[in-house]
Amino acid sequence: MIDLTRRQFHRLALGSAATLALPSVSNAQTGEILHAKEGTAQLAPSQYPETQIWGYNGTVPGPVIRANQGARIDRLFKNDLPQASSVHWHGIRIENAMDGVSGITQAAVAPGGDFRYGFTLPDAGTYWYHPHNRSFEQMARGLYGALIVDEDTEAPEVDRDEIMLIDDWRLNGRAQIDPDFENMHDWGHGGRLGNVATVNGERKYTLEVSHNARLRLRLINTANARIFEIIARGLDGWVVALDGMPLETPQALSKTVLAPAQRADLIVDITAANGEKASLISDDGASRYTLATFDVKRTERAKRLGMPKALPANPVSSIKDLTAAHQADLLIQGGAMGSGMMMTMLRQLISRGKVWTFNGRAELGEKPLIEVERNETIRIAMTNDTAWPHGMHLHGHHFRHVKANGTMGPLRDTILMNPKERVEIAFVADNPGDWLLHCHMLEHSEAGMITWLRVT
Ligand code: C2O
Ligand code: CU
Repeated sequence: MIDLTRRQFHRLALGSAATLALPSVSNAQTGEILHAKEGTAQLAPSQYPETQIWGYNGTVPGPVIRANQGARIDRLFKNDLPQASSVHWHGIRIENAMDGVSGITQAAVAPGGDFRYGFTLPDAGTYWYHPHNRSFEQMARGLYGALIVDEDTEAPEVDRDEIMLIDDWRLNGRAQIDPDFENMHDWGHGGRLGNVATVNGERKYTLEVSHNARLRLRLINTANARIFEIIARGLDGWVVALDGMPLETPQALSKTVLAPAQRADLIVDITAANGEKASLISDDGASRYTLATFDVKRTERAKRLGMPKALPANPVSSIKDLTAAHQADLLIQGGAMGSGMMMTMLRQLISRGKVWTFNGRAELGEKPLIEVERNETIRIAMTNDTAWPHGMHLHGHHFRHVKANGTMGPLRDTILMNPKERVEIAFVADNPGDWLLHCHMLEHSEAGMITWLRVT
């Protein structure tokens, strides 16, 4: 008998069942529709009404899109929202034309319109998709979903693979989404912070698990602006990947800090005893609440499994010579309580709906931050001269943090910068096109924290 892992077996079983039910499963793959439209979700406690949301296929989160590394994704995006939209495939090292950035790689898809996305998946890992047009409103209304790419080989041995899209909603007293999206106070401070947290669209997300079961948890922060700091109770394990990319060595789990758009793949064992509960708790010092509860109902095995192997590396070009890198500086200024900017300048910005600047400008502009030929190395020194943390996201590439002592951090597509911090990132610009670099706190990027790079 072929020795399949449980997950491979699961995939195979699902695949053959689908083939039996739908003879045209491969056509279904190319013909599938991603339909942005209005829907409802029970986000608030049950004594409140359902919340009107915008969702892919009308649900929040949208459908899980899942395929093997190296496979192709084809989706016809149909926009039935009252507003133009687009789909960005966050973290996928994608062909530029499919990056979904309205105004840069495509025109926004008008209400009633459609756009065909098709691309291959170079890397395994945990990714996600969301609009890239008025994202600060559209994502606050619920437009997002997981995009999971399964390892070609050597997938980790786990009993379960669970996706957790963590969101932060701002609801009013009738449990409806607060429509005050363009609130300049939010834009100039920490962004739009909410009052209800959900996992996969549920306020009290619960899973039934077994004692000593091994789970892969794929955490995705889909919030507009909330930084989640997550601690585990009754489960323990390792971080095995960040922003989709495997760590060279799994790291013992402690607090998991996720800026907006960041992901962490955890491999954990349920250490809580049969009959007890384990949980993931959000605790940022100011407030503390349970994000997910794991009800331990059985025993999977008598003893915990050993430390997992690292996930197989993705084929990302490695940085060979930092000294030959093309350099750019990015000075981040503005916002409330900022020191770097003159009051008169800030007032002038606010009159244009902007609050932040990159190198003194608040609009994208005609000229890229840096332009290089394909396969050159880029090094960007970002200085956060503001009183706020920012989660900086680069499109089309993963980068490494070049630390002050010269060592390099793990591959990421989004990096959290603390107030007054200077962070250098470096990457091989091997993906041609025009790529955004912006804060993923969506109010911040709308208010000026956005620039772009050109790889020719
Ligand atoms: Cu997740 Cu420019 O986006
Ligand atoms: Cu920011």
